[in-house]
Amino acid sequence: MPATIVVGIQWGDEGKGKIVDMLANSGFHAVVRFGGGNNAGHTIHNEHGRFALHLVPAGIFNPDTLNIIERGVVVHPTSLIKEMDELLEKNVSLSKLKISPFAHMVMPWHIAEDRGREIAGTTSSGSLTHIGTTLRGIGPCYQDKAGRWQAFRVGDLINRQTFLEKLEKVYISKALALQAAHGVALPSLEDVKREYLEASERIVPHIADTSSLIRKALYYGKNVLCEGAQGTLLDVDFGSYPYVTSSNTTSIAACMLTGINPSDVSRIIGVAKAYVTRVGAGPFPTRMDRETEEQIREFGKEYGATTGRPRLCGWLDLPLLHYACDINHITEIALTKMDVLGFLDPVKICTHYKEGTVDMFSLSDMTPVLGSEIHGWGALGECRERSKLPDTARQYIERIEAATATRVRTISIGPERNETIT
Ligand code: IMP
Repeated sequence: MPATIVVGIQWGDEGKGKIVDMLANSGFHAVVRFGGGNNAGHTIHNEHGRFALHLVPAGIFNPDTLNIIERGVVVHPTSLIKEMDELLEKNVSLSKLKISPFAHMVMPWHIAEDRGREIAGTTSSGSLTHIGTTLRGIGPCYQDKAGRWQAFRVGDLINRQTFLEKLEKVYISKALALQAAHGVALPSLEDVKREYLEASERIVPHIADTSSLIRKALYYGKNVLCEGAQGTLLDVDFGSYPYVTSSNTTSIAACMLTGINPSDVSRIIGVAKAYVTRVGAGPFPTRMDRETEEQIREFGKEYGATTGRPRLCGWLDLPLLHYACDINHITEIALTKMDVLGFLDPVKICTHYKEGTVDMFSLSDMTPVLGSEIHGWGALGECRERSKLPDTARQYIERIEAATATRVRTISIGPERNETIT
């Protein structure tokens, strides 16, 4: 039986959490987080309450679903435990949470380095001033993963003695480097040891051979859902580099980081918001004028789920959406926040770029053309069928389908599970 992949096809924050939460309740044996770390924030409203998940997969609310944190994720142990505690407080079972021993751990020096770089506003190359990261240490952690010498993986927590010996050595070298580069001091070695040893007690019981669980499930005909983090335009290879995150966020990465055979993937759902948002620095061609942006930010509560930063808001960018569908081999689109966009009048849409085909290498120099305005459709209230949507809303969706050659199969018109048209 096949695997389904859900990825964001904009700059993150497309509403993947709600879509995965809904799918997880429709017969998936396992939900797998395959990349990113607690830079991600999936907001979910359901019968258990309102949650902002950062590391735990969104299938956790279904007690029958295996929830897997795979090797491509970078895990900050203390943040994971905080999240686990919040779930336990609301009686959500964690018995089916499984963590790959191969997943790398975010260490205190990664966070200090991220802050040091972002706040000082320089990098060793001197060519970048600011990426606007979430300051969660994600980039430096992936750097150490690729560097190999000073990296820690979740599985290292199993043998406390060897973990502590390595921790001491790496701590000394990182503390010196951070002091020299950014004048930043780390928490004391004793505090770091205490933090990670305490974490190990909670995390080690969840360690499992996750990739084999996934492959076995597929072999026995069970459904597996891979949950993406961030969005395609933040992918380190396919996004608006260098203003991207440091991992791969696209559907192909889901196979690479889980060991799933690409031919087992039958559905690739691209989640897109009816408009676009972005946090952090970098090109954002279709940004709205400040007054409209302010309005939609308030209607749509467009503040980062992880950092609380106000998101920049823009008009839907069809050429970039087409690019993202292409790169991910999207088989269907889930369109979110149609209820929010409808309050603007007129609604604009970017149909093409003056320079021709969208080119990620020079996106900052490209000029979007905002064409064919549509009247806002207003409240969508109790509407639960596509055919009953106001004409302008239907036209808007048809434009997306025509530009991307992809069907919009899910339309979200509110945060609750039942505020969805499928
Ligand atoms: P980092 O992932 O913290 O290194 O941040 C790099 C860039 O990715 C910044 O522009 C962040 O704002 C952005 N980013 C990272 N995670 C998310 C997310 O979950 N949603 C939206 N933007 C994100």
